[in-house]
Amino acid sequence: MYNQATKELVNQIDALKKEKNAVILAHNYQIGEVQDIADFVGDSLELSRKAATTDAEVIVFCGVHFMAETASIISPDKKVLIPDLEAGCSLADSITAEQLREWKAAHPGAVVVAYVNTTAEVKSECDYCCTSSNAVGIVEAIPEDKEILFLPDQFLGAYVEMMTGRELHIWKGACHVHENIGEINLAEKQKEFPDAEFLIHPECGCSTSCMMKSAMYFDCKDGHVYSTSGMLSRARESEAETFVVATETGILHRMEKENPGKKFYAANEDSVCDYMKMINLENVRDALLYDQFEVKVPEDLAKKAWLPIERMLQIS
Ligand code: 13P
Ligand code: SF4
Repeated sequence: MYNQATKELVNQIDALKKEKNAVILAHNYQIGEVQDIADFVGDSLELSRKAATTDAEVIVFCGVHFMAETASIISPDKKVLIPDLEAGCSLADSITAEQLREWKAAHPGAVVVAYVNTTAEVKSECDYCCTSSNAVGIVEAIPEDKEILFLPDQFLGAYVEMMTGRELHIWKGACHVHENIGEINLAEKQKEFPDAEFLIHPECGCSTSCMMKSAMYFDCKDGHVYSTSGMLSRARESEAETFVVATETGILHRMEKENPGKKFYAANEDSVCDYMKMINLENVRDALLYDQFEVKVPEDLAKKAWLPIERMLQIS
């Protein structure tokens, strides 16, 4: 239950939202209080879709910078606000547009598929975007004879290679949160929770090692690789009562809220994205109150970056 100060903040946010005709979109990794005041909580693909279809004039994006940029590219007429400009992403920082141009020059004619966790400048150099929930489908939609450059996440790339049987050129980037979940930790959790179902994000180093060791993709007793919202659906639909969740721990809030009788454990309790946690009720209120901080992608760049996003939204 909210204390008095939090209640007041929530009331202020509600009133400002109405006054400014704003919508609050939050990623599944946001802190519980922010998820609870959001109009919509989802994974990267769902949030892009919401940004594309909302009637609101202002989008307060409770997530990280590349997500707000994507919303601005999709909805150039809307004012997109991020409550803290420092909310970045180590994965998006793992490749620059200049590095990508050099990589492309070494593979002329290759099709470039970029995970949505990239800057607008990097997207503008790509053919397709993808998210964790549609990466396999996007690669499958590309003719088999085409060479593919896949960036920036090496683990998602390895997962897509295995699921599609295609050989990809994979950029060696990684997210510091998912990379550190690691194989040893998951094996320990298997011993600790022998009856648990394992829900694994494809960005995790552990998902790749699980798949590598097994003809059936997994050596986990019962493991499934999903995007964050895929994990949430699986948790609702599965008959299992205990789950070990290998992704950022913010997702546990929604899992517990939606499944009161079930138990959820983090594969690694330290899997916390500091960038995602920079957003809180105070800075959401201030974002609405002072119209800060606007994320606006310059028109020329936005037009180029829109193409791979549009192709993704059409395919998935
Ligand atoms: P999804 O929510 O699309 O699975 O992505 C996870 C992520 O790491 C976003 O930063
Ligand atoms: Fe980026 Fe990793 Fe944080 Fe997601 S969890 S926003 S990929 S740093």
